[in-house]
Amino acid sequence: MGEDAWDVLKRAAMGVRVHAYAPYSGFTVGAAVQTKSGALFTGCNVENASYGATICAERAALAAAVAAGERDLVAMAIASEAKSPTPPCGICRQCLVELAPDLLIRSYAGDAQAEYELASLLPNAFGRDQLG
Ligand code: THU
Repeated sequence: MGEDAWDVLKRAAMGVRVHAYAPYSGFTVGAAVQTKSGALFTGCNVENASYGATICAERAALAAAVAAGERDLVAMAIASEAKSPTPPCGICRQCLVELAPDLLIRSYAGDAQAEYELASLLPNAFGRDQLG
């Protein structure tokens, strides 16, 4: 991933964030994922009155890619207006590691940026190998 590609991904995550449905937390998040083919998919958080039914932006972007027939995820950008850039939550880490254990992630908040490797965020992940 070159810096130009990251910039496109960042802008996509920031752009989709405006569509977030977050009436309960007020915390809006956008995510954009790039696949090996170069395609880009976006998602935002979608909250629910039954709070646990909430879908995070990262999982929404993942689902959009899979629905388009794209499972080879290379990089993900996350955008929020938190005090500092936020990593994906635990549930999203588990969902992402299923398809993309080597995913690179950059998170943006204001002018700040953080970079993560999914493998470091979720070491010793439970996966299909454990199912026997
Ligand atoms: N949220 C995300 O969309 N992504 C994250 O990585 C962390 C949390 C959403 C879920 C909920 O709608 C709101 O942010 C507050 O937790």
